[in-house]
Parts: sequence; structure tokens; C-alpha cells
Amino acid sequence: MTATQSNQTDARGAPVSKCEPKSLEEYEKAIRQFQSYFGDPTETLAETLVNDPEFVMGHIFNASAMLMMSERQYIPAIKQSIEKAESLAEKSIDREKQLVNAARHWMEGRWNRACQTWDQVLADHPTDAMAIQCAHLTDFYLGDAVNLRDRIGRVLGHWDSSMPGYSFIMGMQAFGFEECNQFDRAEQAAREALDIEKRDGWSVHALAHVMEMQNRYEEGQNFMRSTSPDWAPDNGFAFHNWWHLALFHIEQEDFDGALELYDSEILPGESDVSLQMLDASALLWRLKLQGIEVSDRWRGIADLWARKTPVENGYYAFNDLHAVVAMVGAGRIKEAKEVLKSVESAATSNPALTRLMAEQVGVPACSAMIAFGEERYSDAVDDLLGIRTIAHRFGGSNAQRDILTQTLIESAIRDGQVGLSTNLVSERSVHKPFSPLTRRFKDKIAH
Ligand SMILES: [Fe+2]
Repeated sequence: MTATQSNQTDARGAPVSKCEPKSLEEYEKAIRQFQSYFGDPTETLAETLVNDPEFVMGHIFNASAMLMMSERQYIPAIKQSIEKAESLAEKSIDREKQLVNAARHWMEGRWNRACQTWDQVLADHPTDAMAIQCAHLTDFYLGDAVNLRDRIGRVLGHWDSSMPGYSFIMGMQAFGFEECNQFDRAEQAAREALDIEKRDGWSVHALAHVMEMQNRYEEGQNFMRSTSPDWAPDNGFAFHNWWHLALFHIEQEDFDGALELYDSEILPGESDVSLQMLDASALLWRLKLQGIEVSDRWRGIADLWARKTPVENGYYAFNDLHAVVAMVGAGRIKEAKEVLKSVESAATSNPALTRLMAEQVGVPACSAMIAFGEERYSDAVDDLLGIRTIAHRFGGSNAQRDILTQTLIESAIRDGQVGLSTNLVSERSVHKPFSPLTRRFKDKIAH
């Protein structure tokens, strides 16, 4: 132990520098909120930091949690928290210094270095719940399926069901298994987590993904509906689980059901949260591909993006794609092209990692959506064919990135490319043999 280290630890044994015992209690509350999506952890710690301004983990937590929103608008507040933590370096212990480094890497665009640093923290402190959660979410933003699964595997031996937050660790592993197409292992882990904590929305989410991938649409609907009183009320992640339920409705050709969920749960009012807005945009786009009119919902979501794009454009290509989707859906091609211009600029000027995301996936994906909106279906096909096997590089889940494949198939059909569209549907049939949506694509080719 160095001179700056204390004997204090969090509830899972990860050490912290000397602080008020009350601050640690509040930190535990914040960690629980962060893992469960119930409550606002940064708000919880804001008050704590007024009373204990030298609570290093409080500043680190706030910076790290805000980073996980994947939005540029939070950077000034994140910077402030990081600088405050850095100014307390003398009293900080090694773990805290590394966690600050990880946050700085993230803020400056080195998301992969942030994950490596969290991995180093976890080598010494495998029960660091904050590092695990942040690294897992960043693996998601990086589209790193292997680490979504294996990062949890690396620390799991140090966890057991008696520890606070164990279910959330199992939920993360479930999602990792699912993204690696190990559906049985995923379901097993998710159900184990839900046996411990039935309100664990991330485990519900992992199970929803499994049911989507295994064509268990009716069962998925029943599962999501019957468990929603546990995971939905007052939960900050519920919109995404509702989005998964809406996908089950679309599969089963219940488009009204999907729209009802859009209005009541996915985007019931205004939002300033990119993660929520992108799900809303993607859902309307999937309905558009099915030929469904969604009246002025397009205008509503495009307006929300228009408010954000002056700040957010070019920050994270996956978000940018969905801004473009909303603009194109609303027929506002000029605004969509403005977003594309920012992504093109990000592809030359962003920090290395997000520059590559923009260059390799963001630009062609946004271009494809604009081409689709302008009925240049051949161009959309060219753009999408080039990226479909590397699209994970700009993050999101397999289910979310399916918007690209669905748009590709629809473009190929509309462009009269019978051979290509037949092959793409054949490929889809292998993975989703009982998918009504796949059957509908097949029927379209036949006509
Ligand atoms: Fe999901």
C-alpha cells in the first residue's frame, strides 16, 4: 500500500482513497442506479460532491457515466469532472488514477485505449463494477462482440451471487454471448440473472435479443409484455426494451402495434437523448421499408435531431446515421446531406478511432440512406454492399445494424436486381428461417 492509500473499499472490495463514509454510501447508490438504469446516478453524486468535494471516485464516476451517453454535449461537464479528479492526484490511489486515465482516453476519442485501461484496472480489481460497466458499454459502442462476452469472462471468477450487483454482471455476459451468436449460453446467463433480480433490464434485453435472433417472436412479445411491470416503470433504458418489443410486432405484421409502442413508450414526448432518438428513427425506417405511412412522426423525430445536430454532428457515426435516417424519412434531404458533410469531415479530422468509424462505415451508410431517399437504389446497394460485413466497427448491436441489411435488400428489390436480392434473402433465410419479414421480402421479389 502506498502512502496515499486508505483502508476504505466499496461494497465489492475495490479500494478508494480516503473519503467521508457517507460519500461511499452514496457511491453505492449511484453504482446501483448506473447498473440498473433506475434513477439518475450523476444527480445522486452531484449532491455528494457538494458535501465532499474531494471525493475522488465521485468525480471519476460522474465523468465516466456521462461519457456513456455518447454525446458531445456532455464534454464540458466531463472535462470538468476529469480535471477535478486529476487535481486530486496526490490523494488518489493507483486504481483511481488509472480510472481517470481511462476517462480521459474516452473523452479524447481513444475509446479502445479506455477499454484497455479499464482492463488493467480489472486485472488488479476484478470486482470494480464501474470499470466493468463502462468497458462493457464501450465494447458496445465499438461493436466489439468478443469483448462484450470475454471481458466479463475475465472477471467472473471473482464474483458470486452474494455480491451486490451480481445479476448485472450476468446480464452483461448474457448480452456478450448473444452478440457472439451463442444463444443458449446467453439465455442461460440472462435467466440466472433474472432469477436474482427480476428488474434487471439489461438481462431482459439480452433475452429479447436471443428471441429476436431465434425467431421466437410470439414468445418474445409475451415475455416482454408479461415482465414489463418489473423493468419498465421509471427506467431509463426501458425505451430500448420497448423498441425490441416493437420489432416483434413488425415481424408479425402488426404495424399498428409497433406504432402504438412508438407513441406510448419509445418516444412518448420530446427527447434529447440520442440513444432514444436513434431507436425511434430506426423503428420508423423499418416501418417505411414495409411500406407503412407514419404520418407526422417523421417530422417530429427529424425536428428533435435538427436541434441536436449543430452540436452532435460528426461526434459518433452511429448516432449520425440515425439523424440522417430521420431527415431522409421526413423528406428533408438537404438537412440529411448537412449531416453527411459533417460525417465526411469527421472522417478526416476526428481522433483516430472515431475518424475510422466515420470513414469506413459512417460515410457510406449515411450516403446509402440518402441515396435510398432520392430513389437512387443502385447507389444505395453499392454503398451498403461495401460495408455490411464491417459495419460492426461503428458500434451498435447485430439487431440494430440489421437496418443496413434490410435497406440493402429493399434497395436491391427496387432496383430490379433479382439475383442479388434473391441471394440476400437466401442468406437471411439461413439465419432467420421462420422470419415473416424474410418471407415478405421473398414475396416482393416474386412479384
Ligand atoms: Fe438491443
